Amino acid sequence: MVSVLGRACRLVHITRSSVCLSVRRQSTAAALAQTTAPDTQENRKPKTGILMLNMGGPAKLGDVHDFLLRLFLDTDLMKLPVQNKLGPLIAKRRTPKIQEQYSKIGGGSPIKHWTSMQGEGMVKLLDQMSPETAPHKFYIGFRYVHPLTEEAIEEMEKDEVERAVAFTQYPQYSCSTTGSSLNAIYRYYSDRKERPKMPWSVIDRWPTHPLLVECFADHVRNELLKFPEDKRNDVVILFSAHSLPMAVVNRGDPYPQEVGATVQRVMERLGHCNPYRLVWQSKVGPMSWLGPQTDDVIRGLCERGKKNLLLVPIAFTSDHIETLHELDIEYGQVLGEECGVENIRRAESLNGNPLFMKALADLVQSHLRSNEPCSRQLTLRCPLCTNPTCGQTKAFFSSQKLA
Ligand code: FES
Repeated sequence: MVSVLGRACRLVHITRSSVCLSVRRQSTAAALAQTTAPDTQENRKPKTGILMLNMGGPAKLGDVHDFLLRLFLDTDLMKLPVQNKLGPLIAKRRTPKIQEQYSKIGGGSPIKHWTSMQGEGMVKLLDQMSPETAPHKFYIGFRYVHPLTEEAIEEMEKDEVERAVAFTQYPQYSCSTTGSSLNAIYRYYSDRKERPKMPWSVIDRWPTHPLLVECFADHVRNELLKFPEDKRNDVVILFSAHSLPMAVVNRGDPYPQEVGATVQRVMERLGHCNPYRLVWQSKVGPMSWLGPQTDDVIRGLCERGKKNLLLVPIAFTSDHIETLHELDIEYGQVLGEECGVENIRRAESLNGNPLFMKALADLVQSHLRSNEPCSRQLTLRCPLCTNPTCGQTKAFFSSQKLA
């Protein structure tokens, strides 16, 4: 292992410490991916069930194909011609490449580990902060790997929770991510022609929550301090978020604006200490996507002599393949070397930050007190939406009768 680390650190000419940090992150991810999160929630009947929604990631290489299969069959995420035939073909073709990427970050996604840790921290705080709605229990509902959203709902129904909260773990709302998870909840009941035993409500977005902003600002500040002192003022902060096809943006998806809102608040909190840009990563295929793309921006800045860069993942709160592989390896190591970057670093994801758990608990507590089924924004469909399920889902959530 030591020689592997040593080789990895010698491979590139960018800041040695930043590369080693990146490799350390991957080793941590490897260890995390191989551990099953212990279920430490107390064995008592929960009153409030909190369903933490996310896309999830394959915990081991053997899960990659099924993860991709569910993803390419998700008509809320993307529309393909003859999707039930083309989706499985694309999933099969892409599996080896994606497995190779996961093998480089330790063999699997750490997202279940981090979500479990965040959920445990959140409910512990909630039990103290909001005894009237306790006991609280968190459930994990992933869209493309186990535990699937449908499995989590089944468990909540079995537990007979009195109140169910669907809590998106994406701070900024997109119909491709949170919207897809909410549609899955709606379909769970409509496919079974059942009504939920408990009322549901949704925390559907939280892009400018003060504690979220504080967490991001802390992580940016900590990483800036790791640049050489004489370079620190020159560092360009690149807030990087997963991109979207322009077809999604142009139908009126609120995501770009909400990501921009988070960036604005974080920079305000940092006193606009450095120049910055919001950039977009992970474009796939030939279609037009929201830009500028993160890799093009790194190249462009280096060509213009801006060679000290800080990457900040701003639209996902836990580590995943887009941070550990795309940002750390593809951009931080390979592209950084190609471009002759001086120092390139990445701000840590929020992962196990206790302040982040406090943010989650605060969001749930305020939501429960508001007695609102969802935000006003959720009630409005994208002006050019053509997916009828979106309308049914919005009606399902906004008509819930909360006690
Ligand atoms: Fe946005 Fe349907 S795609 S509401």
